[in-house]
Amino acid sequence: MFNSMFCPKTMLNQLSSTMRSVSQNVKKPKTAILMLNMGGPKTTDQVADYLLRIMTDRDMIQLPVQSKLGPWIANRRTEEVKKKYQEIGGGSPIYKWTDLQGNLLTKALDQMLPESAPHKHYIAFRYVPPFTDEVLAELEKDGVERAVIFSQYPQYSCATTGSSLNAIADFYRNRKLPNIRFSLIERWATNKLLAQVFAERIKEKLELFDRKVRDQVLIMFTAHSLPLKAVSRGDTYPHEVAASVAATMAALALRNPHRLVWQSKVGPLPWLQPYTDDAIKAYAKQGCKHMILVPIAFVNEHIETLHELDIEYCDEVAKEAGVTQIERAAAPNDHPTFIAAMADVVAQHLTAGPRVSRQYLSRCAHCVSQRCKSSKEFYKTLCNFDNEPEMAVTKI
Ligand code: FES
Repeated sequence: MFNSMFCPKTMLNQLSSTMRSVSQNVKKPKTAILMLNMGGPKTTDQVADYLLRIMTDRDMIQLPVQSKLGPWIANRRTEEVKKKYQEIGGGSPIYKWTDLQGNLLTKALDQMLPESAPHKHYIAFRYVPPFTDEVLAELEKDGVERAVIFSQYPQYSCATTGSSLNAIADFYRNRKLPNIRFSLIERWATNKLLAQVFAERIKEKLELFDRKVRDQVLIMFTAHSLPLKAVSRGDTYPHEVAASVAATMAALALRNPHRLVWQSKVGPLPWLQPYTDDAIKAYAKQGCKHMILVPIAFVNEHIETLHELDIEYCDEVAKEAGVTQIERAAAPNDHPTFIAAMADVVAQHLTAGPRVSRQYLSRCAHCVSQRCKSSKEFYKTLCNFDNEPEMAVTKI
């Protein structure tokens, strides 16, 4: 006779009750936070594909005969870019940081807004996996009720956030919209806590300078440059970056001089200047020998901070220019004030909307892109813009 402990029927009953309680504990997410970013290759094997996707994305960069020139440039740059990733440890840390930020953000939101909990973060990258398509399919499969599309670029540009949003519009072009209430946060450049975290990152580095020179240190905010063509078209990025700079300087409340400079230009056409490396050399020539570089448009470390700023500018360029001391402020990463900033942005959005801003729905003055035009129409439908009452408090 079987002891009841080993009776298969009893075991089966016990197992199914355990499984029931496990599935009750793993709660179905109610609100999705879809974190958009460009992404970066996790390993050097992904570099070729990553560059190809960037160079053939007309929202990001516009080249003559792009279908031929884009792949040609990507191919030509692959080895050089691979080498740079090798020099920063073999890959981009952007996924690691975004995932950690997402975990901390959703934990904070669960506490702040129990009515929309559980919150779950989903990462959607533009040029490396996890790609937008796969992530949207996963979010639908999870059966979420509400989804907040949350750009991880605080300052909006048609080339970055605009491109990621167009990818979402592409996914739903020939597909029925799911029964999910979508809404969009496409910019948050002047959030007070965001400014505070940049100010705290600057203070960490100011401490490293001798007291005698500390209030003379030049604070050089640096952001990814943009082709002048895009600026003339009316892209809002330059003034949004400048707004983040002003907010940070107000939060810092110090008398140090500051400037906004631009990095990472590619190709022969004119881009927004002064370029960061030229500015380091020029200020050194003017006799300004103490500086801090502040990456104001990146919320986590990646190749532009770890290689371009740390290795190329703070080491090679600064040495050659005769700079006495140069420091680079860390990106926000997992700083608690940064997690509080993200939570503040999302919580305000969830409780007071709007589901999609009129600012996003408007277009650059000289935009002639049909793609932009149809995307804006798409987001009106996706976020149910026409049925949102003026100044409405968006229901969670
Ligand atoms: Fe800015 Fe089209 S390029 S809206």
